[in-house]
Amino acid sequence: MEKIKIGVLVSGEGTNLQALIDAQDVGEVNGIISVVISSKKDAYALQRAKKHNIETLFLDVKRYPDKLEYTKTITEELKKRGIGLVCLAGFMSILGFYFVEDFRNRAMNIHPALLPAFGGKGLYGHHVHEAVIKSGVKSSGCTVHFVDEGCDTGPIILQKVVPVLDDDTPESLAEKVLKEEHKAYPEAVSLFCAGRLKIEDKRVIIEE
Ligand code: GAR
Repeated sequence: MEKIKIGVLVSGEGTNLQALIDAQDVGEVNGIISVVISSKKDAYALQRAKKHNIETLFLDVKRYPDKLEYTKTITEELKKRGIGLVCLAGFMSILGFYFVEDFRNRAMNIHPALLPAFGGKGLYGHHVHEAVIKSGVKSSGCTVHFVDEGCDTGPIILQKVVPVLDDDTPESLAEKVLKEEHKAYPEAVSLFCAGRLKIEDKRVIIEE
């Protein structure tokens, strides 16, 4: 089976990108990360990609008249390279219509909570963990989902759960969740590349 070309969109540390690179290196994923696109110039994720000789692009949202033009540019850069799967990995910009249309059921995001709770606009990174602790819930975790028109609303591929303990802080919770993210994302990408994900309305069925 031919390897699927993967494009990873990042804005920060890139630990999830690293987990995907590592999974690719040990042959866990039948795909090849072909380009890493960052919305931030100084994102450490870019260094990680360069270290592995992966092509990098920095696309500055501020240089585009609006979000639509930015979305169009990112979409075109991905299409130009024949990308078959896009992974949003800590990408802190919301992509609109063009992207979703072109990459429907071929773009994933990872979110640091158990969706559909604690998702949506304003709930990203540490804001999520602060909201989780404040709410008093006893479990949190991460969600890998397909990207749709909404914010954190697409079909859920898989989730991993961690306990929220009485003495947890947003920082300690973030650390626990991130560890699970590093297992969940490669797992989801591997299932996609093996052609084992079937979408039925809002449900994602994992085929044997
Ligand atoms: C991760 O925790 C990811 O779930 C989160 O940003 C972090 C990126 O870390 N994404 C969101 O909050 C998106 N809503 P990384 O750059 O080390 O992979």
